[in-house]
Amino acid sequence: MVDGLWDRRALLVSGKGGVGKTSVAAALARAAVNAGRRVLLAEVEVGSETNEGPSPLAELVGARVNGASVTPVSPNLSFVRLSAIEGQRLFLQEILPLRVMADAAMRTRALRRFLEAAPALREMGVLFQMLHLIRLTRAEGDPRHPLCILDLPATGHALALAALPDTLLTVMPGGPIGRAVREGMALLRDPALTGAVLVTLPEPLPVSETLELATAIQRHGIPIAAGVLNRMPDNPFSPDGRAAVEQLLGAHGPHRGQRALGRLDRARAAQARLEANFPAPLLTLPEFPASGPRLVELLATHLSPPPTASASPERRGAGAQP
Ligand SMILES: Nc1ncnc2c1ncn2[C@@H]1O[C@H](COP(=O)(O)OP(=O)(O)O)[C@@H](O)[C@H]1O
Ligand SMILES: [Mg+2]
Repeated sequence: MVDGLWDRRALLVSGKGGVGKTSVAAALARAAVNAGRRVLLAEVEVGSETNEGPSPLAELVGARVNGASVTPVSPNLSFVRLSAIEGQRLFLQEILPLRVMADAAMRTRALRRFLEAAPALREMGVLFQMLHLIRLTRAEGDPRHPLCILDLPATGHALALAALPDTLLTVMPGGPIGRAVREGMALLRDPALTGAVLVTLPEPLPVSETLELATAIQRHGIPIAAGVLNRMPDNPFSPDGRAAVEQLLGAHGPHRGQRALGRLDRARAAQARLEANFPAPLLTLPEFPASGPRLVELLATHLSPPPTASASPERRGAGAQP
């Protein structure tokens, strides 16, 4: 595992659609729970009005979506769907003297239209709800949600979140919005507290896009905690075995096995390129013949260090650890 990954307060899981972001976010949450952490697994509501649509992330961990409230899933795991509107309401509650004023204000159509019109204000709502959840404490005084793992819907979203201070602080440098944004940014830009986790596939284009995304995210000051190379094909060959197979394939003309070998070579080239250029440690996750909650379980087990690791003086074989 990447050192200290679970010690942050927020992990922002990003990457292109289809690379396995949601499965990886769910697996990271499970692995962190296995490592003894208390985790809030979060996603961002996509539509602006309804908060009740289906949630692939909730389904992967067996969570109920309950509006914008946190729902317990299993010991040490909770789920929440962050909502722009809920965040904006919490924000108004904080700056207006009475809670009822915030609720009344949120019912004002003109205000709602204003808040929904500007994408930056929606991002701010999401950020503010996340901040609010991160700041919550338990009766004992410790954080109620020590680690929040957020599945961001698209790369654009991570960038919008990253660009938020520049967007908002130029328009509203002072006042309560400026303060909230600055507080949010202090959290998002502190590598001890926050890290982006960029998920990608072992293919040329996804790797190029991920390297670009990493550069863009870093330019906005958001630290990158790790890269995840997902769905790495298994390499069953020793160097000698591979040579023997190639000889056989060569002797018998075009063969389906050549496609698989080609895919393996491309994947390994993509992996090497990512390893050479990615600005943070890389985790590699195999392609598993499973999907849904079962896939999450397999990925989580792969991400969890073996329970005997601290007891045994030597590390397990090189292949055992990502
Ligand atoms: N390591 C893996 N092995 C096999 N299938 C995977 C793996 N990771 C993701 N998948 C599959 O890829 C598809 C997309 O995954 P998903 O987590 O929804 O991606 P995203 O959130 O990036 O769109 C799903 O069908 C999922 O089961
Ligand atoms: Mg997804």
